[in-house]
Amino acid sequence: MERTDYYSTIFKRRSVKKYDQTPLDKKTLEEISNHIKSLKPMYDNIKTEVKIIPLEQVETKKKQAPHYMAIFSEPKGDYLVNVGYMLQQMDLFLSGNDIGSCWQGSPRPNEDVLKNSDLEFVIVMSFGKPKKSKPEELHRSSASDFKRKPLNEISTVKGADKIVEAARLAPSAGNSQPWFFTGDENMIHVYSSKPYAVKEHKAPKVQKYNIISMGIAIYHLHAALEHFGKKVAILSDENAKTRAPENYEYVVSLKAEYVT
Ligand SMILES: Cc1cc2nc3c(=O)[nH]c(=O)nc-3n(C[C@H](O)[C@H](O)[C@H](O)COP(=O)(O)O)c2cc1C
Repeated sequence: MERTDYYSTIFKRRSVKKYDQTPLDKKTLEEISNHIKSLKPMYDNIKTEVKIIPLEQVETKKKQAPHYMAIFSEPKGDYLVNVGYMLQQMDLFLSGNDIGSCWQGSPRPNEDVLKNSDLEFVIVMSFGKPKKSKPEELHRSSASDFKRKPLNEISTVKGADKIVEAARLAPSAGNSQPWFFTGDENMIHVYSSKPYAVKEHKAPKVQKYNIISMGIAIYHLHAALEHFGKKVAILSDENAKTRAPENYEYVVSLKAEYVT
C-alpha cells in the first residue's frame, strides 16, 4: 500500500457501504495500522488515538464491515473538527489503495474496547473490500457522479475554484454539506451552518456529525492547497469571525503561501 496523491482521490472516492465479509490479510492490516501513526492532526495539542477493531468488538445493528477503526479524543477545543480532519486522511488513503471505507454514525466499540481508552470515543469508520469487486463500487468516474451543492451555493472565494471544488466534494453526515467558504486563494475562511458552537460533551448527534464533517472539508482544502504547491497555516482570523454569512458561524481560516 502506498500514500497515493490524496488530491486525485478526492475526485473519485465514495463511501462503501456493502462489504465482502472476508477479513483483509494480516499484512494489509499492518500497513493500515502503520499509516494511522502518520496521520497529521489539525491541532497537535489534542490527544487522539485510533484503534482498528474487528467486527466482534463492535456494537452495530447491521453487521456490515469486516473491520472498523475507532477514533478517541481528548474532549477539548475543536476536537470534533480535528477528528474529521484526521480520519479523512484514512478515508483517502484506503480509497487510493482500493479499499472501501465509510464514516459511520451509529456503531460503537464494545465496553472492553471503550474501557481500554482514557479518551472519549468519537466515531468509527468501517473498512474492507467492497461486496462486488466492480470498479464502480469503489470509485466514481467523474465529479458529476457526486451529489453535491453547486460551487456558487457554498463559496464566494475568488480565484481558487479548483481548491474549493475539493472541499465541495467532501463527504458529510447525511450529505448535509454544512460548509461555506469566503476569501481568496491566499486566505480561505471556513464557516459552518448554525448552530456550530456547542459545549464540549454536549453536542447533540446531528450537530456532532456536522462538526466532524467540517474537519473533513478542511482536510480536503488543505490537501488541495498542498497539491498546488502551497504551504498552509490554519489560524483564527478575528475579522473573518465578524463577517460570517447569514446563518453560518466561523470555524477557521487557511492561510496559503507558495513554498519558496
Ligand atoms: C460524520 C459522518 C457520519 C456518517 N454516518 C453515516 C452512517 O451512520 N451511515 C451511513 O450509511 N453513512 C454515513 N456517512 C456517510 C455519508 O452518508 C456520505 O459521506 C454522504 O452521503 C456522501 O456520500 P459519499 O461519501 O459517497 O460521497 C457519514 C458521513 C460522515 C462524514
